[in-house]
Amino acid sequence: MRAAAAGCRACDLWECGTQTVFGEGSQSSELMLVGEQPGDKEDLAGRPFVGPAGRILDEALKEAGIDRSTVYITNAVKHFKWEARGKRRLHKRPDSREIAACRPWLDREIELVQPKVVVCLGATACQALLGRTFKVTKQRGELFPQPAGHVITATVHPSSILRARDPAAREAEMKAFTEDLRLVERQLRAFSA
Ligand code: URA
Repeated sequence: MRAAAAGCRACDLWECGTQTVFGEGSQSSELMLVGEQPGDKEDLAGRPFVGPAGRILDEALKEAGIDRSTVYITNAVKHFKWEARGKRRLHKRPDSREIAACRPWLDREIELVQPKVVVCLGATACQALLGRTFKVTKQRGELFPQPAGHVITATVHPSSILRARDPAAREAEMKAFTEDLRLVERQLRAFSA
């Protein structure tokens, strides 16, 4: 699948990104995290969540008692969409068509890994898996059982914590994000009990 996705031309984003950034992690993972799309660092490294948002995610996972090496981590869209601002490549949000074009890869990842819990990180992942009307601000932490047997839940995207307006807001948002992941960890333990 990774090899097939490397040549994906289902939307135009392949021309924008350096490479397809496929999901990675344990294929027998009970937990799958779904972000939006690779960022600048991920696009260059070819791996999800290895840049600044990844550092926030790592910190919160550790606080929540979740070992990243046991998790499967992927994105709703697998190419980096950006626009040039001087020498910098600024993130651009993927649109509905791009999210839909990439959806078969995500569906297949879920089918193959068969996680017990899938966590959508932010609005784009929610749009892909829970629909356009889903509101992370109102519905974070709720559990949505799926016909395939897993549950989907949602929390904020770690990059929203990087954008917090001041250190106090950042601390509060980090605490809430960690708390959401703690609930996920408890849910996983309840499933295996
Ligand atoms: N943001 C995402 O949504 N995914 C990544 O892999 C990195 C940053």
